[in-house]
Amino acid sequence: MSNPLIDSLIAAVQASPDDLPLRRHLAELLIGAGRGAEAVTHLAVALQHDPAHGETQALMSRALGAPAPAAPGPPEPDFPQNAPAEGKAPANGLDWRAYEQEFAESVPPRFARSDDEPDPVTGDQDRIVDVESSSVRLADVGGMADVKKRLEMAFLAPMRNDKLRALYGKSLRGGLLLYGPPGCGKTFLARAVAGEMGARFATVSLVDVLNMWIGQSEQNLHEIFQTARRNAPCVLFLDEVDALGHKRSQLQSSAMRTLGNQLLAELDGMEGVNDGVFVLAATNAPWDVDPALRRPGRLDRTVLVVPPDAAARQAILEVHLRDRPIAGIDLKRLAATTERFSGADLAHLCETAAEYAMHDSLTTGHIRMIEQRDFEAALREIQPSTGAWMTTARNVAMFANGDGAYNDLAKYLKKNKLL
Ligand SMILES: Nc1ncnc2c1ncn2[C@@H]1O[C@H](COP(=O)(O)OP(=O)(O)O)[C@@H](O)[C@H]1O
Ligand SMILES: [Mg+2]
Repeated sequence: MSNPLIDSLIAAVQASPDDLPLRRHLAELLIGAGRGAEAVTHLAVALQHDPAHGETQALMSRALGAPAPAAPGPPEPDFPQNAPAEGKAPANGLDWRAYEQEFAESVPPRFARSDDEPDPVTGDQDRIVDVESSSVRLADVGGMADVKKRLEMAFLAPMRNDKLRALYGKSLRGGLLLYGPPGCGKTFLARAVAGEMGARFATVSLVDVLNMWIGQSEQNLHEIFQTARRNAPCVLFLDEVDALGHKRSQLQSSAMRTLGNQLLAELDGMEGVNDGVFVLAATNAPWDVDPALRRPGRLDRTVLVVPPDAAARQAILEVHLRDRPIAGIDLKRLAATTERFSGADLAHLCETAAEYAMHDSLTTGHIRMIEQRDFEAALREIQPSTGAWMTTARNVAMFANGDGAYNDLAKYLKKNKLL
C-alpha cells in the first residue's frame, strides 16, 4: 500500500531526523492510512525529544488505538519518566513501558548514553578486556623505523616464535612505555600492533576501569590481568598510563591511589604468573608517571616516539590524502615545510586544505580538486602543536635526568638544537 506523499515524507524525515513537526505530520498521515505501528515509532522518537508535547501525546494515543482526547489537557507532570506502577492502569491511558519494550528494537533508548559511559558488564569475564580487531597494520604507520624495530625485538618476534624464545631463555614478560608529544602516533602505533597480533592484543582503558565499578576497581584490574594470563602470550595495552600511574604522592583521589598500587602489584605478580603477559603502555607525560612503575620487571623499557621526520611526514600526508580528490600536490615540498608538525597536525592540515577547496567550489559554483594553493592557505593558519611539549621536555632533560631515564630525549633535543 504505497502512498507517494507518505513515501516522500519518510525520506524527508530520514534526511532531517530532528525535525519534529515533520515527524508529527508523517505520523498523522500514517495513522490516517491505517499504519499505526509505524506512526508509533516516529512519535516515540518525537516524545524522546519533547516528552511533554501535548499534540505528540495525543497522536501517540491515537496511533495506539485509544480514542482521541477532546482537547489535549495539560501534560502530566510525571510523564513519561514515572511509568505507572505494575498492575495499576496507566494514568493517561498510555502504557509507556509496554510500548517502549515493544519498540525497543526500532527506537533508540530514551536517555542517550554519553560516549564515555562504558557498557554494563554482564557475567562474561573476558569482556572486561577489549580484544579489539584493528584493521591498521604496521605498514600504515609512516616512518618510525626505530620504534618499530624495538617493538619487533621486544615482543613481536619472540611471540611469533616459541622455539626462538626457548633458545635464548627469554621469558616474555615485563613492559615497555612509549612516550612522546601528543598526536605523534603512540596510540596509532599500538593499534597497528594490535592489527598484527589479532586476539593476542588487548586494550585496557584505565578510565573505564575506574568509572565502571566505583569501589571495586582493584578487583577489576585484577580480573583484567587474570584474563591476560589465561590468554598468554598476550600484550596488554594501557593507554595514557599517566592518568593512573600518576605519582602517587601527588594524587588527591584515594581511589586512584589504590588503583595505582594494585597496578604495581599486578605487574609484579607472583613468581612466574606473568610469563607471556607483556604490558605496552603509552603516555604524553612520562614525568607524571609514578617512578615505581618504571622499575625493573615493570615498565622497564622506554621508547621515545618523536614527531615524524620528513619521510614520515610524507607517508602520513599520503595516508590522509589517499581518499581525497587532489591535483598537482607537491608532497615532498609539503613534507619539507611541515617541520615539527605532529601526525595529528598533518591530519588537521589535510582537513583544512579540503575545506578551502570545498568552500571555493561552493562560492564559485565550480567544483574543483584540492590543490597546492589550498595547502598554502591552510599552512598560514595551522601551527605545529609540539612546541609546548618540547619546552617541558627540555626542562626535564636538563634538570630531571639524573638517572639517565631521559637520555633518548636529551639526545633527540640536542640533535634538533632544542637543548
Ligand atoms: N606515523 C604515523 N603514520 C600515520 N599516521 C599518523 C602517524 N602518527 C600520527 N598519525 C595520525 O595522527 C593521529 C593521532 O595520533 P595518536 O596515535 O592518537 O597520537 P598519540 O597517541 O601519540 O597522542 C593518528 O590517528 C593518525 O591519524
Ligand atoms: Mg594517544
